[in-house]
Amino acid sequence: MTQVKTVKPHEVLADVLSEDLDAVNTLIRTRMASEHAPRIPEVTAHLVEAGGKRLRPMLTLATARMCGYQGDNHVKLAATVEFIHTATLLHDDVVDESAQRRGRPTANLLWDNKSSVLVGDYLFARSFQLMVETGSLRVLDILANASATIAEGEVLQMTAATNLGTSEDIYLQVVRGKTAALFAAATEVGGVISERPESEITALRDYGDALGIAFQIADDLLDYQGNTANTGKNIGDDFRERKLTLPVIKAVAQATEAEREFWVRTIEKGRQEDCDLEHALDLMAKYQTLEATRKDALAWAETAHHALTALPEHPLRETLTDLASYVVARLN
Ligand code: IPE
Ligand code: IPE
Ligand code: MG
Ligand code: MG
Repeated sequence: MTQVKTVKPHEVLADVLSEDLDAVNTLIRTRMASEHAPRIPEVTAHLVEAGGKRLRPMLTLATARMCGYQGDNHVKLAATVEFIHTATLLHDDVVDESAQRRGRPTANLLWDNKSSVLVGDYLFARSFQLMVETGSLRVLDILANASATIAEGEVLQMTAATNLGTSEDIYLQVVRGKTAALFAAATEVGGVISERPESEITALRDYGDALGIAFQIADDLLDYQGNTANTGKNIGDDFRERKLTLPVIKAVAQATEAEREFWVRTIEKGRQEDCDLEHALDLMAKYQTLEATRKDALAWAETAHHALTALPEHPLRETLTDLASYVVARLN
């Protein structure tokens, strides 16, 4: 297939991998059901039918295909990864008290927190059933580690997010945990099931890690400069939720005494008033922190590109390279 540059790389992946992706979506639908608890299919269908980009499962499918994988465990693993992702989204929207996800009201809003937590647990358990079916202990190890690391990242964020002393290093640790861990696992297992040399498996993992970090930094930036139509989420949520992300961390680091008092009141103490979001945006503009954050995201995309150079040439390698540029380019 000739690749037209104006086509978004995740759309190219969806096109090239369409057969496998259909199989993944069918498997997701089958395994998301539950005979005994009707609330489960209600909640899962709400989220699954809303779409989602299916980025993580496509990473597993693409890396397996690129590595010449011949079996069918890649479909199971791709579904596993999306299950883990969906479970974390259900839990994340409870923790963040979010009202919108994938352009729809969140499950916690439509049903309640209890349903989201319990259905999220159910999906986590389902993901483990699926990965066991591959029979690979190494794959189990990778995905079990990723699941623990995601939870760790979310807990670290919970304690670090409203603390103005949070450094860029801690932010990176949070992002690596809550987001990049699953991207890295998704790309690593593609190489593992294809039994590629360790150097290539490491390169795949490094690519996923850097891509995930670039993706989350971009997501945090979009929270301040995106729009709801594009992201399916509310603008300014992170500020209202008192979540210290990179654009604010950079502004706090340069704050005058009066500005620091503003951040203490709005983020640490959570006493927010009308117009505070506008003032926060003014301070980010004053120190050009959105631009600096965008540069950091670009640097991670560059790291992702570099990791891929350790892999043999393949059309999918080019698409994965484009994908790393795209997750940051959507910020333009
Ligand atoms: C959302 O991920 C959670 C983050 C890590 C920012 P996606 O943006 O990939 O979510 P969906 O699956 O496409 O909805
Ligand atoms: C995404 O984190 C959830 C996980 C990666 C577990 P965020 O809370 O930053 O992302 P959104 O904005 O809700 O998608
Ligand atoms: Mg959230
Ligand atoms: Mg969150």
